[in-house]
Amino acid sequence: MNEYDSDKMKDLLSQKMGFQSTSLKEEADVLIVNTCSIREKAQEKVFSLLGNWRKLKKNKPDLVIGVAGCVASQESDEISNRAPYVDMVIGPQTIHRLPEIYEQSLSSKKTVVDVEFPLIEKFDSLPKLSKSKFSEFVTIMEGCSKYCSYCVVPYTRGTEVSRPLNDILDEVNNLVENGTKEIILLGQNVNAYFYEDREGNVVNFGLLLFYLCRNKGIKRIRYTTSHPNNFDEQTYLAYEKLPQLVSHLHLPIQSGSDRVLAAMKRGYTVLEYKSVIRKLKKARPDITFSSDFIVGFPGETEEDFMKTIQLIKDIEFDQSYSFIYSKRPGTPAASLEDSLPDSEKKDRLKFLQDTINSLSKNRSKSIIGEKAEVLVEGKSSKYENMVTGRTTNNKIINIPGQDNLVGELLKIQITELNNKSLKGEILIS
Ligand code: 5AD
Ligand code: SF4
Repeated sequence: MNEYDSDKMKDLLSQKMGFQSTSLKEEADVLIVNTCSIREKAQEKVFSLLGNWRKLKKNKPDLVIGVAGCVASQESDEISNRAPYVDMVIGPQTIHRLPEIYEQSLSSKKTVVDVEFPLIEKFDSLPKLSKSKFSEFVTIMEGCSKYCSYCVVPYTRGTEVSRPLNDILDEVNNLVENGTKEIILLGQNVNAYFYEDREGNVVNFGLLLFYLCRNKGIKRIRYTTSHPNNFDEQTYLAYEKLPQLVSHLHLPIQSGSDRVLAAMKRGYTVLEYKSVIRKLKKARPDITFSSDFIVGFPGETEEDFMKTIQLIKDIEFDQSYSFIYSKRPGTPAASLEDSLPDSEKKDRLKFLQDTINSLSKNRSKSIIGEKAEVLVEGKSSKYENMVTGRTTNNKIINIPGQDNLVGELLKIQITELNNKSLKGEILIS
């Protein structure tokens, strides 16, 4: 989501405000840092970066400095106090107001703070792209109303708001007309998507997938992030009927212990999570899964942790975003006693990541010799004269080729595993 917001700010700066981008901060007239406050570390980094930028301002008093995103939203007072040389404080829902905020900061010479949550106004005000990439993010909803006990997102991005169906379809049509082949639907809880038109017709996430797939220019659809409690029957049906929908799902579970899940207020048990997985597999037998995990949640015992490891083995997750629990002020979990030593948390995290890496390696080995379809994403960063593509199972494959293949959907055969990288050859069909 932050990547998306940063891209949109870049578009605004270049297409509406007349700026050019530079890789040299000394050369810049405007510097904006887009921030994340999901864990403490990210937040600390912001203030040290701002300290550096302050020095640039000494030589260049007209330099405009901005802080955008969730740290801006949560810490606007602290930023104004601790870093008064910051000119713009922009919340995640007001990035589209960047041109006006910029003008105001120039005329007022004071820190301009705009961290409101105006209902979905953001998307209508963002510039349309004249040239799109082969793969583009499309936000379908924003915010979260789940209030997991450890998480700041509902407070920083606000509660769930869905975009009107026609706005999404128009945006996607425009992207596809300009060359996009893959759409990645974006939102904190995409499958909580809910839109009701004036006649009372309701569109849920599954139905949205069917509407999108009417556009034959879309070759692939991915989405992130979904919540186990929001899968509707139409979504299961979509996995049965829509080949554009990839056979890979990132479905955060956080922990494999019911006790910890309850303390996290995730709203499901391990059995309920597994039942969602079972239904998805029934609809799409070759589907694979990745997940998010939090290790060392307050009160997590060795036994709880080993349940998470068992679950990872049961489901064979082959990728993860896994982190040590980070206490976030203002969240309910912040008042829980957190007595587990850091060294133990680090050991658990490493063990979890090693387990998933080894499952991933086994899966990579098992697909050598198989045929697959890859969407080519770009030049390989490791190998010369090779491009990198992704299979429907989200496996990265390097194949011989040049830039002109980017955006092509190719039939390939997977030939070898070299360290962690899979290689393949193009099949002439
Ligand atoms: N500490 C550690 N990880 C967190 N996440 C969210 N809040 C925290 C926190 N306080 C992780 C969850 C979530 C992902 C986006 O970030 O795993 O799924
Ligand atoms: Fe945070 Fe995700 Fe829980 Fe929402 S569902 S509160 S974004 S962890």
